[in-house]
Amino acid sequence: MKGAIVQCLGDLVKTNFGNEKWESSLEKAGMSKTSFFMPLQNVDDEKVTKIIESVCKVMNITPTQAAEAFGEYWVNVYAPRLYSTYYKGASSSKELLMKMDSVHDSVTKNIQNAHPPRFEYEWRDSKTMILKYKSNRGMIDILTGLVKGVGKYYKETLVVTKLSNDKLQIVFPK
Ligand code: HEM
Repeated sequence: MKGAIVQCLGDLVKTNFGNEKWESSLEKAGMSKTSFFMPLQNVDDEKVTKIIESVCKVMNITPTQAAEAFGEYWVNVYAPRLYSTYYKGASSSKELLMKMDSVHDSVTKNIQNAHPPRFEYEWRDSKTMILKYKSNRGMIDILTGLVKGVGKYYKETLVVTKLSNDKLQIVFPK
């Protein structure tokens, strides 16, 4: 997975809880506490999973709480700084989410070994979308956190329900 994910998680932990918590998380994951991650570097998926598990242990939070905090921070703080161009032209949660399949495709297009998640959209009615998640990583809880983060970004209340390990139902306000 792209180093951006780990860099974002590190920023979140350091900003809100301090450097030591991040350093302990890295050490618990069997890595040096001074490890540094750059957005385009590749980090083994296994390592990423270990770091997320260690953050949960060090912070004493559940994987769901971690996924929600990560999703909110990625969409509201980290991505607007690094990837602001992808927000242009979207003025609601619905519009931003509808761009996510092509955003993930293009953001990783020239990067070797990237396996971006892909999305399909189905509509039950004009406010109710089924988001089909296509990835081998099984990160549906992180996906849920990210979708809720998009709601926060546009100050919209979204009702997000996990239907299965590859499908979310999202009800938009309008
Ligand atoms: C402008 C905003 C965003 C950008 C630039 C972006 C970019 C990326 C990148 C570069 C990765 C790593 C892919 C890899 O290494 O193979 C990733 C992972 C991921 N992104 Fe985004 N992302 C954005 C917003 C979102 C949103 C809003 C969602 C929810 C619909 C989302 C869902 C995911 C998920 C679930 C993963 C984990 C990898 C997986 O499941 O296979 N992202 N994203």
